[in-house]
Formats: sequence, structure tokens, C-alpha cells
Amino acid sequence: MLLLFSNTTLGPLALQNRLVMAPLTRNRATGNIPNELMAQYYAQRATVGLIITEGTSPSPNGLGYPRIPGMFSAEQIAGWKRVTEGVHAKGAKMFMQLMHCGRIAHPLNLPAGARAIAPSAVAAAGEMYTDAEGMKPNAMPGAMTAADIGATTQEYAQAPKNALAAGFDGVELHGANGYLLEQFIRPNSNQRSDDYGGSIEKRARFVLEVAEAVIKAIGRDKVGIRLSPFGVFNDMPVYDAMEADYTYLARELNARGLLYIHLVDHSPMGAPPVPDSIRAMFRSVFKGALILSGGYDAARAESDLAAGKCDLIAVGRPILANPDLVARWKSGAALNAPDFSTFYLPGPKGYTDYPALA
Ligand SMILES: Cc1cc2nc3c(=O)[nH]c(=O)nc-3n(C[C@H](O)[C@H](O)[C@H](O)COP(=O)(O)O)c2cc1C
Repeated sequence: MLLLFSNTTLGPLALQNRLVMAPLTRNRATGNIPNELMAQYYAQRATVGLIITEGTSPSPNGLGYPRIPGMFSAEQIAGWKRVTEGVHAKGAKMFMQLMHCGRIAHPLNLPAGARAIAPSAVAAAGEMYTDAEGMKPNAMPGAMTAADIGATTQEYAQAPKNALAAGFDGVELHGANGYLLEQFIRPNSNQRSDDYGGSIEKRARFVLEVAEAVIKAIGRDKVGIRLSPFGVFNDMPVYDAMEADYTYLARELNARGLLYIHLVDHSPMGAPPVPDSIRAMFRSVFKGALILSGGYDAARAESDLAAGKCDLIAVGRPILANPDLVARWKSGAALNAPDFSTFYLPGPKGYTDYPALA
């Protein structure tokens, strides 16, 4: 494992190895505020090079799921500060994933005064868990007005400033998995006829304006983005022009000089395959760092790094279940299996109680 466990750099940041903890929503943030349990969970996993937080909303409107954290209040900044201190003490760097759920939401999950908004008033097929009433159909979102687009962009610009105040090293825009940014990119969820919908130039506009606002707020070397070309999660069907659309996005993101692009591949979780050609396209068009994720074990991680397919490898379920994944992969020790039944439940069970090696 010459590459996976060796030091590297990500823009201005020194990383202790090339393994990244992928963003993992865990629903332990009661009241949408990070707490001591979360600080313990992240610190347990801070032997990787980079931790990307669970999806965290820049806005009350983006809190579509129960008990997910936000990054728009003083209490949230204070809670996250405890988290970054514990992670930095163990040597990892930490980025906040900014996730605005958009139409993947239910009003019962939203705080008073917040509302589900999306590019168009098109509800996503599927259901959303609520603490109050269990499973409910996804919300019918309100189509964002020009004022909503401006206000949401402002929220996206403020959250990274809050993140730096809380000690984060940067932010990752969640442009994947069917949440607000991807809802603008994809034609099924974006049926607008103004400057934000129609051609790919128009469907990409909100994402690129948000990226520019965040870059203006904290600098391009602190901003990455996660994308899921060919991803279908949250009612996002594949369509004919998908590869061309993501090639356009890769070029435009490259022109803005983002620190990294992080690609999702959920085929190991049963989703349709992601063609190798799209990963190769991102690798050649985008000159910043590339992070790949989805179904990696140590051998495949090393082999993709050695082949130059990417700069860093992100893992989700393996590190969820193995706080000391780096030590286990280094020594070839057996892994704990993830317990799906506790992924999203409040409390320490299945969260901070996965055993580490003695
Ligand atoms: C419990 C759970 C929560 C997740 N939450 C997020 C999230 O908040 N943001 C995101 O971009 N991806 C999320 N994902 C996707 C993971 O980041 C990752 O792409 C996926 O688990 C595949 O990687 P793996 O095969 O290493 O687990 C989640 C996955 C799981 C299992």
C-alpha cells in the first residue's frame, strides 16, 4: 500500500494519507445542532487524511431529513467547533458537505417558517421518514422564485464562512444524489423556462453561481463539489444527453478552479453501473484533484491510485463500521460489518460503539 497510506497534499493542505471519509448522513444532530456524541464519532475516525461531514444544510429550508445538522446559526457553529477540534487533534483535515435537500423533504422535518423549495413544483417519487408520523410521500416543493434563488445563493455563501469560523478546512458542495443542486442540473426535476432551466447552460447556472459565491466567500482552494453522473438516487432518471451535460459541467468547474471534484458511484449499493468513460472524462477535463468513491476495498483503492485514475479514495460503509479502518487495512485485519438498522437512528448504538482493534 505505497500510495494509499502515504502523505499527500490537497491544494494547500497536507494530508496524512489518501483515504477520505465519505459524507455519511447519520441523523444524530437533535435540533439540527452538532453535539458531543458527533464529536466523539468523528474523532474516532480521524486517522484518515480527510473527513467530509455528513450532509449539512446551509439553510433552514434545506433540512429535509430529521435530525440532520445545519450551518446557519451560532449554536451550530459552536457545536461544529468541538467536532473540528477533535478531528484536527488526530491529524485529519475536515471539510463540511453543504447539502440543501430541496424537494427531498417533508414539512414535518422542517423547522417553523421553513419550506421545501426546488427548481420546479415537481415532487420526487418516494417517501421521506419523519419522526412525528413515520414514512410520508416526499413534499410537493414550491418552485423557487428569482428572490428564492438569490436568497438561497446568499445562504450558500454564508455557510462556508461559518464553516471556517468553526475550524473547517473547506467545504464540499453536494451536487449529487438528487438534492437541490442536482435538482437544477437534471431535466426531470428542472422544468423552468427562465435563465435557470432548459439548455444545460441554463440548468447548470445555479450550481455555477453557487460555486462562484462560495469561492468568493472563502477562496477556490477551499471548495470542492460532489457529483453523481449516471446516479439515479432520489428519482433522478438517466437521460440521453447525460454524458454531454456532465462534460459541460466538468469544463465549467475546471474554468472556476475548484479544489476537487468528488464522484459518486452507487453501483456497489445496487444502483445502475457508472460508465468508466465518465470518470476518464472528468480526469482529463478537470485539472484539480479527483476523488473517487463507491465500493472500495484497500486493494482496489491502491490499484486505482497507482493507475492515476484519481488522487484520493473516499469510503463510506467501511469507515462507518470501522473507526480504525486505516489500521485494519494496513494490517489486513478483519472488518466489522455495518449494521443498516442503526444507520439513521438517534443515539450511540451503531454509531460510536463499533469496536476498534485492541
Ligand atoms: C448511511 C449513509 C449515509 C450517506 N449519506 C450521504 C451524505 O450525506 N452525502 C453524500 O454525498 N453521500 C452520502 N452517502 C453515500 C456515501 O457517501 C457513499 O457514496 C456510499 O456509501 C458508497 O460508498 P461505500 O461503498 O464506500 O459505502 C451515504 C451513504 C450511507 C451508507
